[in-house]
Amino acid sequence: METVEKKFRGRHLLQIADLTADEIMGLLNTAYKFKDVSEREIKKVPTLRGKTIVNLFYEPSTRTRTSFEIAGKRLSADVINISTSSSSVSKGETFKDTVLNIAAMKPDAIVVRHGSPGAPAYAARIAGCSVINGGDGANAHPTQALLDLMTIHEKKGTVENLKAAIVGDILHSRVARSNINALKMFGAEVTVCAPPTLLPHGVKALGVKVTHDIREAVADKDVVMMLRIQTERMQQGLFPSLREYSEHFCLSAKVLKSARPDVLIMHPGPINRGVEIASDVADGPYSLILSQVTHGVAMRMAVLYLLCGGAES
Ligand code: CP
Repeated sequence: METVEKKFRGRHLLQIADLTADEIMGLLNTAYKFKDVSEREIKKVPTLRGKTIVNLFYEPSTRTRTSFEIAGKRLSADVINISTSSSSVSKGETFKDTVLNIAAMKPDAIVVRHGSPGAPAYAARIAGCSVINGGDGANAHPTQALLDLMTIHEKKGTVENLKAAIVGDILHSRVARSNINALKMFGAEVTVCAPPTLLPHGVKALGVKVTHDIREAVADKDVVMMLRIQTERMQQGLFPSLREYSEHFCLSAKVLKSARPDVLIMHPGPINRGVEIASDVADGPYSLILSQVTHGVAMRMAVLYLLCGGAES
């Protein structure tokens, strides 16, 4: 792994476009090794002993923040969590000053989640250490796309030339953008499905097909990714009601009959049961939702190891 390690050391991870297809495969291979660590009785290796990781989260998170914390701790790093409510951000301290002050404490990596697109990239310019994008507005969520690729790879044995559908609130979804970029890097044909008001202007420029019919979207696909409606990012009503939305865009067992028998159903979470995905589908045999969460720890261990440890570890 010497070559992979040297390539990553000290870098940032801000978006999928920061990576080549070979580097993504290197991350997947490293993540598989770390998945084994999480299945041992003693879930800890000394790889990042003496390193410090800061989770700087300006938006709520269950999966990303917790899995970065568990990932860092399983690698023996010291992990510090900072949220806006319990930090001096609540006293009016700016993002710039917050990053500069954290950087002055000499961490090895800062994981940034922020509502503003570009905030992690800005942190990367001023922090003097590796910055990992933990999700910035509707822009990017690269580690989610990487763990999604790992989940697909484990099931299908490949991430090449897939047919994928992404269904739901594409407009506000950083997960959709990062997954479109990642899947297309490996030759995928990606279809997005949503009401017209929940698609970004000029969505076809992302190189995707568009449909407003969920049955058409799921038919013949290897992978179907469902997304929640992000009401917290909506200034105005973009559809009449959640009930009407779910009538047309919920992945129910009935809709799933249009899909292939080996379809993979994914969702980055949090899920809204009965809105974008029916409970029996979310908990059913095609669902990989909890595998995605398991892979979140392994992939974030790989990212932290390669950015902060690398060749010297
Ligand atoms: N998938 C994801 O980013 O979930 P959280 O918002 O809980 O981190």
